Amino acid sequence: MTGHHPKGPIERTLLIIKPDAVQRGLIGEILHRVELDGFLFVAMKMATMTATQARGFYRMHRKKAFFKELVKFMTSDRCVLCVLERENAIASLRQLVGSTDPDQAAFGTIRHDYATATRFNCVHASDSPESAKREVHFFFKESALARIRHRIKRIYSMPFARR
Ligand code: CMP
Repeated sequence: MTGHHPKGPIERTLLIIKPDAVQRGLIGEILHRVELDGFLFVAMKMATMTATQARGFYRMHRKKAFFKELVKFMTSDRCVLCVLERENAIASLRQLVGSTDPDQAAFGTIRHDYATATRFNCVHASDSPESAKREVHFFFKESALARIRHRIKRIYSMPFARR
């Protein structure tokens, strides 16, 4: 956990809990860490990616040697797709998640604690504002997200909220 909440713009980012974490029973643990770090869940769904989706989502890696295996892994079972919101959400989630290679990931990060290999690294987090926008909209319609936000605002005054 990053443990500090620097001021900054409210951003949205995409978190994917990958098939290895789903199969190992780590969904709750990962979601708990994300909520403790001050993220709000705007939307979330469980889905098995098609090969077309996985190839499109990871298209910047299409020339890499690991691309075929990456697509095979990402389509092997369900993922949990989450749209998250927080101040500095994009950088903060990357920090919480840790480096792609678990051997390089900082102590206490999700990948340090749970990932078993660079390929089987439990989670994906958008790496820039451009990626976050593209990745959120790859799986969620903006109109649906706007409706969810509107509904949350109308129902709760949240005097007890964390933030
Ligand atoms: P992710 O953050 O989802 O972005 C691209 C993914 O490709 C990455 O996590 C890893 O799961 C995978 N990946 C990146 N580098 C390698 C590698 N050298 N070998 C296998 N998989 C990799």
